[in-house]
Amino acid sequence: GREVTLYEAVGGRPFFDRLVDRFYDGVADDPLLRPLYPEDLTDSRAHLAGFLAQYWSGDTAHYSDGRGHPRLRMRHAPFAIGVPEAKAWFGHMEAAVDAEDLPDDVAGALLQYLASAAGHLVNQR
Ligand code: HEM
Repeated sequence: GREVTLYEAVGGRPFFDRLVDRFYDGVADDPLLRPLYPEDLTDSRAHLAGFLAQYWSGDTAHYSDGRGHPRLRMRHAPFAIGVPEAKAWFGHMEAAVDAEDLPDDVAGALLQYLASAAGHLVNQR
């Protein structure tokens, strides 16, 4: 039979909504990252959860149908993102992933992607 995808293994979109909710709860209390984000994090939560759900499912209904091509390097260009910011961002994601009871291989695949994506968005030395 067909392999279960990571998207299916985590439980689909509700997982990404929970993950991103926990992530932004961390960002909301982070003195380094909080100033970069808008006061109201409602849209930020929806965009990031949608992006991640689309990345792992391939279904553009989650993000691109509403937001267009992700172009994350371009969308992050207005924000000064150095290694400390990328580490802080990833740290909140790592805590959010750890809060879920995931099999090690699934958690590992998520964290590997998130670490690599965060490193790719560093735009300041
Ligand atoms: C948007 C910061 C990494 C995905 C944003 C915004 C900020 C930000 C300030 C604008 C506010 C908002 O619209 O939510 C950062 C920082 C990062 C980082 C400091 C550290 C490296 C990432 C990574 C991803 C990501 C690794 C994907 C895996 C997004 C998405 C949006 C966004 C999807 C919304 C784009 C849109 O549709 O407007 N980020 N980000 N970010 N970020 Fe990041």
